[in-house]
Amino acid sequence: MKPLKTTTSGGGKAVEVRGLAKRFGETKALDGVDLEVSQGTVLGVLGPNGAGKTTLVRILSTLIRPDAGTARVAGLDVLTQPRQLRRVIGLTGQYASVDEKLSGRENLYMIGRLLDLSRKDARSRADELLERFSLTDAARRPAMNYSGGMRRRLDLAASMIGRPAVLYLDEPTTGLDPRTRNEVWEEVQRMVADGATVLLTTQYMEEAEQLADELTVIDRGRVIAEGRIDELKAKVGGRTLRITPGDRAELPRMVAALAQAGLDGITGATADEADGTVHVPVISDEQLTAIVALLGARGFSIAGIGTHLPSLDEVFLALTGQKTARSSEFEEVGA
Ligand SMILES: Nc1ncnc2c1ncn2[C@@H]1O[C@H](COP(=O)(O)OP(=O)(O)OP(=O)(O)O)[C@@H](O)[C@H]1O
Ligand SMILES: [Mg+2]
Repeated sequence: MKPLKTTTSGGGKAVEVRGLAKRFGETKALDGVDLEVSQGTVLGVLGPNGAGKTTLVRILSTLIRPDAGTARVAGLDVLTQPRQLRRVIGLTGQYASVDEKLSGRENLYMIGRLLDLSRKDARSRADELLERFSLTDAARRPAMNYSGGMRRRLDLAASMIGRPAVLYLDEPTTGLDPRTRNEVWEEVQRMVADGATVLLTTQYMEEAEQLADELTVIDRGRVIAEGRIDELKAKVGGRTLRITPGDRAELPRMVAALAQAGLDGITGATADEADGTVHVPVISDEQLTAIVALLGARGFSIAGIGTHLPSLDEVFLALTGQKTARSSEFEEVGA
């Protein structure tokens, strides 16, 4: 394929979405979404089932048209420049799209040919990607005999054939075991290291944490939070210092000592009887140091100390409330 010259506008934004809306009957799948992805970075789009993630990816892939709003990818408009746009993107859909009857190598070769590569280039690109995705040994077996992880890797390889500048990965590791998930993450990291811009949708907080530079959290077609992962965490709550006294019986005294000390900005030390620790919300490193110094000065023995950042699960729950399908799973556990 001839390299296509692309332009970006607005200071290196590979994807720019404004006011995107899409309705299916009564369902507002997207209800005015704004987002941006800077070139060479990974944006994680996080949201529960039905949040609108796949709808967003399908609009950005020109597979469906939005009802309202604008979207540009590599400077190209989804509505007025769909053909050019399709030449700069790669898509790994939520559902594997490999042809079962063809071998891995044939799948990749076929896609290369569909993308206008010469026979020779399609073959060499297929072999290169099979090698890179550790599929060389399985290259000549029909894809129907591949494991889930091998299919996903073949899918990722397929989306890379045209050397896309912008890649969409729609829940690339859903249903994969942890080891296979790690393999896919490594591949995505490699793609980004090679300069690709990635829009990744996921329901896995850990995945977002591993791969994404920034996050957009959507729920019911609306953006409910966005920013860097640490920013989102800070929004929901800072760190919690967890101190394990040498003697468990010291828990109440330790809590009382912290409450009475009147340390700057320190409020709300609590005892966690279940795991035998004192929890103190902290904002700064100075506070950490002050707490440890105070306890030392009062003669407490400390068996363990650590800080805990809220997990993305906790962040997500706090942001989406109890109303989503995902949150209600947690509700039953007694939240
Ligand atoms: N073709 C369609 N026809 C009717 N409704 C649709 C269609 N596509 C999506 N929807 C609805 O739009 C909403 C958003 O769906 P979408 O597939 O974008 O969610 P998602 O975030 O990708 O969810 P999941 O995590 O389950 O993949 C859902 O309520 C869904 O039922
Ligand atoms: Mg989806």
